[in-house]
Amino acid sequence: MAAAPSLFYFLLALVTASLFLSVEAGLILEDGYTVTTVIDGHDLNINPYHVLPLPHSSDLVVLNYATGVFYSAAFPTSSKEVVLRPLAGDGKLGFSDGELGSAQFNKPKNFAVDLKGNVYVADKANHAIRKISSSGVTTIAGGYSNKIGNKDGPAQNATFSNDFELVFVAQQCALLVADHGNQLVRQITLKSEDCTTASPASQGLGAAPWWILGLALSCVFGIAVGFAIRPYVLPRLRTGTSQQQPLLVQQDMEALDNQSGERSLDSLLRHQKRSC
Ligand SMILES: *[C@@H]1O[C@H](CO)[C@@H](O)[C@H](O)[C@H]1NC(C)=O
Repeated sequence: MAAAPSLFYFLLALVTASLFLSVEAGLILEDGYTVTTVIDGHDLNINPYHVLPLPHSSDLVVLNYATGVFYSAAFPTSSKEVVLRPLAGDGKLGFSDGELGSAQFNKPKNFAVDLKGNVYVADKANHAIRKISSSGVTTIAGGYSNKIGNKDGPAQNATFSNDFELVFVAQQCALLVADHGNQLVRQITLKSEDCTTASPASQGLGAAPWWILGLALSCVFGIAVGFAIRPYVLPRLRTGTSQQQPLLVQQDMEALDNQSGERSLDSLLRHQKRSC
């Protein structure tokens, strides 16, 4: 009879645990995130079908699917301050390359952005892949075929389904085509110039080594001159009044109690070396 209560509690514990686990197993609600609308298509009369950041810039590229027009916009902090700048597309659906403002796309589904800021368009209804660069719009794949298919090979003769998306893969310098309609992932190797960053940021970094080199040279020069004049300066300082103030202002605490010229010159050299 003593076993009955413990069995009861065991079953109760089992039921409680299973109830607890059934709640826990479904969802794990991680707190700490916030949702904010930053682009409101109602205000701007667009439907932002796809959006991506441009590399090394604070700009976004936004696609309005219905008109096939691409816009750029500074990364918005609130939906009130969005200003769309037309990037490419004349607003009519079609298949036309050339100048950014007069190019036409036909139901562009999504796009990818390379390191240079070129935009590759999955131009769904044209079964083609288009490229928007600063010099205009071109067709890089599916240009000849313009029909549905799954043919690989030279890109202009290749065919795609009417449902595919693009992803840029920097490590491979390639586009991947998630070709839903064909149940395939396909790869288009890009030109190496499309995968080199030609951004103001990298130019800034490129300039930095010269600046650092200049600083390093001035440090080395300072130390070299200091050592070179040391033998000539020290005897004079010794023979002169030892209470003379050092010629150069020292910011180090140790320099404040320097009473002799020898120590101040040495600490000057130390200071010069440390600041290098
Ligand atoms: C690609 O298509 C063009 C135009 O139809 C054709 O002239 C060319 O021979 C094709 N090339 C290949 C490799 O199929």
